[in-house]
Amino acid sequence: MFTTAFAPTKPPIDFFAAIQELKQEMNAVILAHYYQDPDIQDIADYIGDSLGLSRQAASTDADVIVFAGVHFMAETAKILNPDKLVLLPDLAAGCSLADSCPPQAFAAFKATHPDHLVISYINCTAEIKAMSDIICTSSNAVEIVRQISKNQPIIFAPDRNLGQYVMQQTGRDLLLWQGSCIVHETFSERKILQLQAEYPEAEVIAHPECESTLLRHAKYIGSTTALLKYCQQSTTKVFIVATEPGIIHQMQKQEPDKIFIPAPPTTNSCACNECPYMRLNSLEKLYLAMKNRTPEIKLAEKTRLAALKPIQKMLEMSHK
Ligand code: 13P
Ligand code: SF4
Repeated sequence: MFTTAFAPTKPPIDFFAAIQELKQEMNAVILAHYYQDPDIQDIADYIGDSLGLSRQAASTDADVIVFAGVHFMAETAKILNPDKLVLLPDLAAGCSLADSCPPQAFAAFKATHPDHLVISYINCTAEIKAMSDIICTSSNAVEIVRQISKNQPIIFAPDRNLGQYVMQQTGRDLLLWQGSCIVHETFSERKILQLQAEYPEAEVIAHPECESTLLRHAKYIGSTTALLKYCQQSTTKVFIVATEPGIIHQMQKQEPDKIFIPAPPTTNSCACNECPYMRLNSLEKLYLAMKNRTPEIKLAEKTRLAALKPIQKMLEMSHK
């Protein structure tokens, strides 16, 4: 006779309550990016763009940082906090933009331009940060480039689209690394124009990681935090949002009477305007990471120290 062993029935875990409890026990802070699932955004202590999250990581007095975002973000938190435990719910949450700039190839590129200052977008690995002079984010890239003497040649890495946007805003000629984000390069210009025809009152708002062909249709271009603020301040009621749609959760919370339409991707068959890396995190993984104190971000001290300098430089150079 066969017997089948069944796991005893247990009441379902209330992940919200369990995470709150662990947070107290561990003296942990949960930092989340706007591209995370709504549940994660709702349980976070702080939600922000990359600059805001770096500032929070630099100033927290928690013992444990739970980073609900992607690897380069949690890594930045670790660079700023070597003695804290930094947890990332899923270590596979990488970034196509960071991957588009392999350290060895970038070192060779940099070596051929020894007179250039290196400004790197924060969406890169610690190894690339360690080879950079200044880090920037989408909210301070223009501001930082404007502070550099006009005679100083600059390499801008890894995002060619943000680099193009900075060139256009500052009138500077930057030597661009040809990296890009799979999410922000996926929006369909044709479908956005169709939506504009359907909703003539709508404004297109876009993240500067989008291609210039798309940015030229945008009424407003900015980091995730800047886009959110713009929607609050604008009298417009309908927005076509050309960035990862996770941010629409906050937009809708803050402006429940306005309409936010996610900019459609070129293909109809998938939700590929959702960042597949960001979306690897879940409330369940976040709970387990806290409970088991793993997966943890670890970093060689030599790389950390070299990567810390350009991050500190960015924090000094960007206005509060
Ligand atoms: P910000 O939130 O800094 O605008 O960056 C967007 C992004 O692509 C994060 O991966
Ligand atoms: Fe990287 Fe793009 Fe995802 Fe941001 S949205 S984490 S840049 S792949």
